[in-house]
Amino acid sequence: MSSTKNKNSSNQHVVEQDMVLFETLRKVKRLRLFEPSLVVVGFFLVLVFTTCCFFYLDFREVDGKFGIISGQFKRFTWSKEQEHSRVEFLDEKGDACDLFEGNWVWDERYPLYQSKDCKFLDLGFRCSENGRPDLFYTKWRWQPNDCNLPRFNATMMLEKLRNKRIVFAGDSIGRNQWESLLCMLSSEVPNKESIYEVNGSPITKHKGFLVFKFKDFNCTIEYYRAPFLVLQSRPPKGSAKKIRTTIKLDQMDWNSWKWRDADVLVLNTGHWWNNEKTIKWGCYFQEGKEVKLEMKVEDAYKRSIHTTLNWIQDTINPNKTQVFFRTYAPVHFRGGDWKKDGNCHLETLPELGSSMVPKDNWSQFKIANSAILKHTNTSQVLKLKVLNVTRMTGQRKDGHSSKYYLGPNENPHRQDCSHWCLPGVPDTWNELLYALFLKYETSHNWNMQHTTH
Ligand SMILES: *[C@@H]1O[C@H](CO)[C@@H](O)[C@H](O)[C@H]1NC(C)=O
Ligand SMILES: *[C@@H]1O[C@H](CO)[C@@H](O)[C@H](O)[C@H]1NC(C)=O
Ligand SMILES: *[C@@H]1O[C@H](CO)[C@@H](O)[C@H](O)[C@H]1NC(C)=O
Ligand SMILES: *[C@@H]1O[C@H](CO)[C@@H](O)[C@H](O)[C@H]1NC(C)=O
Ligand SMILES: *[C@@H]1O[C@H](CO)[C@@H](O)[C@H](O)[C@H]1NC(C)=O
Ligand SMILES: *[C@@H]1O[C@H](CO)[C@@H](O)[C@H](O)[C@H]1NC(C)=O
Repeated sequence: MSSTKNKNSSNQHVVEQDMVLFETLRKVKRLRLFEPSLVVVGFFLVLVFTTCCFFYLDFREVDGKFGIISGQFKRFTWSKEQEHSRVEFLDEKGDACDLFEGNWVWDERYPLYQSKDCKFLDLGFRCSENGRPDLFYTKWRWQPNDCNLPRFNATMMLEKLRNKRIVFAGDSIGRNQWESLLCMLSSEVPNKESIYEVNGSPITKHKGFLVFKFKDFNCTIEYYRAPFLVLQSRPPKGSAKKIRTTIKLDQMDWNSWKWRDADVLVLNTGHWWNNEKTIKWGCYFQEGKEVKLEMKVEDAYKRSIHTTLNWIQDTINPNKTQVFFRTYAPVHFRGGDWKKDGNCHLETLPELGSSMVPKDNWSQFKIANSAILKHTNTSQVLKLKVLNVTRMTGQRKDGHSSKYYLGPNENPHRQDCSHWCLPGVPDTWNELLYALFLKYETSHNWNMQHTTH
């Protein structure tokens, strides 16, 4: 107990630097300084020096060598007052806070875990073990503009999850987030043997599903592979030969009956809704008994989102299940795409500030977003919370697996600029999930108390 306390207090120094510092540095670089007086130049030199120290220490700390300088360094803090003046999201005053409007800020207390300590990670997400040299991408915390997020507490979450199930259903970016949550939760469980896959399956990219049980809490964290959420299966009898499979736009995936009774359900879909992954492979769209050879992938995607939203309205019991839809996670292939030399391995800093112009049009985001807004506009209350991560994630071009999705001695000829290194960006999505989950639990219990008295 006391050793944990010490560790916490030694990590307590919040060294935050906002865009200000980077903006300043950029200006220095461009030599656009107004009248460089000696004092100003001196000031910037100190600033540059501390920043360098700071990044240097970053490596040392992750190496596990806490230096003497590190102790002295703790005295530097940035924008602390601002943090204290914000309301806490979990307080009643935080109700109106939009968690998804904010900034990435540097925070020395991150990451929340080390990949080498987490046995639940695919090789493809273990960037640092695979040779990625920088660790900056593990140090950014999401700071909403109008409130503070609760600090992630794995023990607290596990206690709240006692006898419960969390289900992630979606594509491999959903698996990315699911593995992140497994690592975040297991980091506080001393007996790692008490966490296991219920069927003994290993973590691999295989199809189907994986169910991890935290025995001491009788809770399961589950992943179902369903890149379209709706059903992909054989075409109707007598279909043309070029039709190898069809996506039934009006039916949910076979496994959806297993998702239905989860206590927390996190859905996502988007990355597979393109010609490359559908029509090019002989996978066409079907409504009712009819295969729609001419249907465009964007229209099919829109239909599938409506099917999913209707399924939520019709089959989910909101007294039992909290449903989240995580929005599209942007990709960052610079100068190409995943096939044509797109790269992101030299990105080491997020796109800070609001001047960010998206590299693509996020059409998958727009389609799902407008479908959700349309449903919200009906008289029904939508039983769904949106993990609206698209914009914040768009800023994190530095967070992808890039060249580091294979073992340290392999040299891939393609880069992965769609999945995310772990620890990394998906941890933040889970911190937002954690905040919304706790908020719901708090108000739910509050209501229960009031109805029983
Ligand atoms: C995390 O939550 C547990 C259980 O609620 C609590 O005992 C512990 O003090 C919390 N840890 C921190 C660092 O707040
Ligand atoms: C474990 O949790 C499941 C729900 O996920 C519940 O049905 C079961 O009764 C729980 N077992 C115990 C021993 O509490
Ligand atoms: C959910 O709980 C409320 C209040 O207890 C109740 O009125 C409602 O019928 C419940 N809904 C379902 C679907 O069970
Ligand atoms: C984005 O939209 C603009 C205008 O709507 C279009 O010209 C451009 O080709 C689109 N870019 C991509 C990558 O789809
Ligand atoms: C929402 O509903 C209102 C009133 O029914 C309508 O005027 C508005 O255009 C709708 N908005 C969307 C986005 O559908
Ligand atoms: C998500 O956030 C974007 C801005 O980043 C906004 O345009 C969009 O309407 C939001 N969507 C939902 C469903 O709240």
